[in-house]
Amino acid sequence: MATTASPAAAPAGPAPNPLRAGLRLERIAEPCTMVICGATGDLTERKLGPALYNTLLGGFLPPEFTVVGFARRDLTDEAFRAHLLDGINKYSRNRPAKPSIWESFAAGIEYHRGDFDDAAAFTELAKRLDRIDRDRGTAGNRLFYLAVPPSLYPEIIGNLERAGLAASGEKRTTGPKHGWTRVIVEKPFGYDLASAQALNHEIAAALDEEQVFRIDHYLGKETVQNLSVFRFGNGLFEPIWNRRYIDSVQITVAETVGVEGRGEFYDGTGALRDIIQNHGLQLLAMFAMEPPVDLSAEDLRDEKLKVLRAVKPMPPEDVARNTVRGQYVNGWVEGERMPAYRDEPEVAPDSETETYVALKLAIESWRWAGVPFYIRTGKAMPSRVTEIAVQFRRAPLALFSRAGVPQIDPNVLAIRVQPDEGILLRFGAKVPGQGLNIRTVNMDFRYGSSFAVDSPDAYETLLLDAMVGDASLFTRNDEVERAWAILDPILDTWSSGEGGPLHFYGAGTWGPPAADELLERDGRAWRRP
Ligand code: BG6
Repeated sequence: MATTASPAAAPAGPAPNPLRAGLRLERIAEPCTMVICGATGDLTERKLGPALYNTLLGGFLPPEFTVVGFARRDLTDEAFRAHLLDGINKYSRNRPAKPSIWESFAAGIEYHRGDFDDAAAFTELAKRLDRIDRDRGTAGNRLFYLAVPPSLYPEIIGNLERAGLAASGEKRTTGPKHGWTRVIVEKPFGYDLASAQALNHEIAAALDEEQVFRIDHYLGKETVQNLSVFRFGNGLFEPIWNRRYIDSVQITVAETVGVEGRGEFYDGTGALRDIIQNHGLQLLAMFAMEPPVDLSAEDLRDEKLKVLRAVKPMPPEDVARNTVRGQYVNGWVEGERMPAYRDEPEVAPDSETETYVALKLAIESWRWAGVPFYIRTGKAMPSRVTEIAVQFRRAPLALFSRAGVPQIDPNVLAIRVQPDEGILLRFGAKVPGQGLNIRTVNMDFRYGSSFAVDSPDAYETLLLDAMVGDASLFTRNDEVERAWAILDPILDTWSSGEGGPLHFYGAGTWGPPAADELLERDGRAWRRP
């Protein structure tokens, strides 16, 4: 992992961050400016502002750190600062903002008004960034965050290039000949394989791949990172992490929320593109990959890519059998009435978009051949839970059934990604007393009770990673394309009408009965998290 470096001769900046005094820090961002394109939107308010504030509070941001909000709206610096502060006070895990910390943060926040299709706005931005380098000692290091719809990426990246803002250090034609330029792009990355390839192509025309940080915020979640530690840092689990011992794997990403005012975006997207293409397949890859040669970003991503390459795209004739898509109708979720998806604002009244999907996938590799991977995601579910549940094979001999004891449930290892992050192992134990009775019990590790610290939000981890140049938790161009190649045949078959019907499920239920049948056919059942 990269570490810090101060600028050679940093001009006098603000007073040193008092939070850093006396702390032993492994990773502190280099002095840099973060430009948020689309800074007045929801993402900045809910995620980016709070993440930056908490990163500063943790002592991981240097005093030179500067934020430039770039958007169309006519705002003053003061108004933009107030917008960020509001977001921190509403959404930050540490809130409200501490006045002394906020003041030092606010001193490095500016607003740049401009249209993304206006080349002059970018030339002005370049001048502003040069001035910030001089005044605040940001050393020519620039992080651009594209918090905008993907349709705007090509335009923004093209304009960055034309203004001389795309290249790093020596390759720059204007501005400082030192320092780095990195660009974070949000999901969804494309709409299908062809559009993702086109986007990668356009990005590659202006940026080197190591400058591009494609975010999948699930990779920044603590438990997902812990998957590698769990598997490769312990001697116990890796020997049984294969087809000999594992019967099947279930990945669940369940949300209680509906489309939360994003009807227009969601209706053109659906659950397969919104969750499975990125979060779902990344969880699968992290779970199933081979031990990497090293912990470098390239080695990790090579191994994830190998898993995705081994997931064979489904032949169209198998789609109806191995996929279930659903859409919620009105119901009750956590005691609140939820309208039907089709009644959400900006959703077509006859929409066929799926808000639920369940899939059965196969990984055709030496390790996983014959082990089904069931993945499901849904909105308006009874509870919010993301977990990976591993069901182990039964003991080879049913010894206790000879003594009249009913068959013991198979062992399950459940990796709880959120909420109540932890790992649970279920196994059979003898009920105390005379005679032989067996009951399934839990061995339960919880982050909350084992560590007396709060987990950082995924965006805190990922922003800091981008600032130190660590791309291991970001997805590479080939991974993203491969994920689309797996899903394209499903999307095509669904839209041709051959992929099975759209099923309806009540809001507040675990999805349509057809999803249960998908597993029942194989003699299995979904875990009730
Ligand atoms: C986003 C999806 O990527 O992830 C949203 O676009 C979804 O639809 C969200 O609600 C879920 O993220 P989290 O971190 O709340 O599980």
